[in-house]
Amino acid sequence: MVESVAPVESVRPFRAYVAERLDDGFRRGVRELTVADLPPGDVLVRVEWSGVNYKDGLAARADGKVARISPLVPGIDLAGHVLHSDDDSFGVGDRVLVSGYDLGVAWHGGYGELACVPAAWVVPLPERLTTRQSMAIGTAGFTAAMSVEALEARGLRPDSGPVLVTGASGGLGRLAVGILAARGYEAWALTGKPDGAARLHELGAVGVLGREELEAAGTKPLAAARWAGAIDAVGGPAMAYILATLQPGGAVASCGKAGGPGFSSTVLPFILRGVAVLGMNSVAIPIEERRALWNRLATDLRPRGLGEDVTEVTLDTLEAALDAIVAGRARGRWVVRVGA
Ligand SMILES: NC(=O)c1ccc[n+]([C@@H]2O[C@H](COP(=O)([O-])OP(=O)(O)OC[C@H]3O[C@@H](n4cnc5c(N)ncnc54)[C@H](OP(=O)(O)O)[C@@H]3O)[C@@H](O)[C@H]2O)c1
Repeated sequence: MVESVAPVESVRPFRAYVAERLDDGFRRGVRELTVADLPPGDVLVRVEWSGVNYKDGLAARADGKVARISPLVPGIDLAGHVLHSDDDSFGVGDRVLVSGYDLGVAWHGGYGELACVPAAWVVPLPERLTTRQSMAIGTAGFTAAMSVEALEARGLRPDSGPVLVTGASGGLGRLAVGILAARGYEAWALTGKPDGAARLHELGAVGVLGREELEAAGTKPLAAARWAGAIDAVGGPAMAYILATLQPGGAVASCGKAGGPGFSSTVLPFILRGVAVLGMNSVAIPIEERRALWNRLATDLRPRGLGEDVTEVTLDTLEAALDAIVAGRARGRWVVRVGA
């Protein structure tokens, strides 16, 4: 607990959604905690908004294999304002956000009205973002921005050619389409939800492909070279397809495994076309890089349509969203109104 918390604050109960492994099963739901239940940190945050990520869905399930403590307050993203800080870098009232590191998996996260975190995890909220907008971006949008940054560091430019986004109807996918379109890329979306195509076009996708595209391309390790780059939230057969269809020198940012972790390919795309797989890990990125990328998300990597593809839930209505995201039913992002 932060040392400077006023005694009255430290005993006042607050609400949190808790997932807990029991000897005879699994329990999840809203409970009352106090600051004494929170892990030791330098900064006590009044959480205004959180988000729902695929990992949060797993952290709230008995078979999720993500939670490393029990009980756990899930929520790998949070935004709010500082109530107390033992670190001079932050003052009372500062707007901040936290995501990644152990938050929501091995450290109580964003699904509580209060959170206590190390100062080294805290990002000052960029000026041009509200706390709600930052959670509409969340880890999904942060990873989409990491992907664009990594692809551009390898040479991708808007005039390089078409860029494919898989899992396009999900949080990461829609935000990736929005970032690419806002930067002038020819963004293409691959989705299993054809009825969502109109929204992807509105966000700036030039073309929308159905999952049948994967079968149509066949299973050969090399097919017609089409994509200058790709952002893959799906893995599995989608990754095999991308490797087979990247243009010479192209690269794919590998972000997720919504369609499964394994895929079948050969070294041919690497040695005959010089393509590359860029691994994205948003959890462990150093804090200075994290803060810099959040500033870019507020400015030159700001996604088109920010805040529009958002469904609001509360701690009491969160559970359906947690289950829906694991079932692959995401459409954009859910934001959780915790204490706003
Ligand atoms: N590397 C990192 O640091 C990092 C950070 C954030 C997220 N991730 C990962 O990235 C992935 C996407 O995250 P998200 O927050 O965008 O999740 P999401 O909102 O659930 O979106 C995932 C999308 O993938 C597609 N999909 C789901 N199940 C599928 C299946 N069985 N086969 C093929 N496609 C399927 C669906 O889109 P369509 O119906 O449009 O195809 C779904 O909307 C997850 O695996 C997540 O764990 C990784």
